[in-house]
Amino acid sequence: MGASRPSRRSPMPSSRRCDTLMAMRRVNNEPEAETASFGSAQVPAEARQGLINRVFSAVAGRYDLMNDLMSGGLHRLWKDELIATLNPPVSPRPFAMIDVAAGTGDVPLRFLTAGGPGCSALLCDINPAMLAIGRKRLADAGLSERARCAIGNAESLPVPDRSFDAYTIAFGIRNVTHIAATLAEAHRVLKIGGRFLCLEFSACEVPLLDALYDFHSFAIIPRLAELATGSAEPYRYLVESIRKFPDQRRFAAMIGAAGFARSTYRNLTGGIAAIHSAWRL
Ligand SMILES: C[S@@+](CC[C@H](N)C(=O)[O-])C[C@H]1O[C@@H](n2cnc3c(N)ncnc32)[C@H](O)[C@@H]1O
Repeated sequence: MGASRPSRRSPMPSSRRCDTLMAMRRVNNEPEAETASFGSAQVPAEARQGLINRVFSAVAGRYDLMNDLMSGGLHRLWKDELIATLNPPVSPRPFAMIDVAAGTGDVPLRFLTAGGPGCSALLCDINPAMLAIGRKRLADAGLSERARCAIGNAESLPVPDRSFDAYTIAFGIRNVTHIAATLAEAHRVLKIGGRFLCLEFSACEVPLLDALYDFHSFAIIPRLAELATGSAEPYRYLVESIRKFPDQRRFAAMIGAAGFARSTYRNLTGGIAAIHSAWRL
């Protein structure tokens, strides 16, 4: 699949169009809509998912390359760590996982490679362009037999209650509009005794490393993106959205509030990323 570059013809950035929409509502005395953050901008909540989908449709073809460039390959180690934490069974025992916001399939690829013949994965993503790449990569790796794909929103998953032994979401939850609804869905679809694991950018807790990380995020990444994809705009959203996401402690509390037990987290690379773990008991 070729890289689809973001349109340069758009007369006004999407976030500014949303600001305008909100201002028009105020002038017309229409009720204030619920708002949500889209990077550093506030946009009407109902418009946000469409903007996110445009970001990922624009970057899908270059997503894997940019992930490597942006993280210096670190995302690979963090995903390895996620699967080591899950420790899928190598026996033929059935073990079903759902990977939400699966994108280009990095997590299920690792899971199916590490796990035994009883392991199966459902890749769920709201964006067909991202999921199409994930599906192809699993087929190329000869893992299609144990993998299925579904287009779906993390906030209302198209699967029955209590159907999975594990739920994973990597660099996905900060993109959803309603985190609490997403966590409630994770809880609903897990079997009793099932495990929730989330890999996400978090708050860097190491002095100096945090300053370096900020410089990398705001000065280097947009330039890399411009060079590699022709546009820095989608990556500006990605960088800004990281700073808006709740820190480790707040997110662990949100997971507990969704009904999960034993909500804990482990920092990776000084807290640049973190793995949150919890159980449905
Ligand atoms: C940064 S990518 C992460 C992809 C993959 N998990 C990885 O770690 O490489 C975020 C993914 O979240 C998906 N996404 C965004 N909002 C979503 C939602 N509400 N429900 C499901 N997927 C969503 C995007 O389409 C995109 O594929």
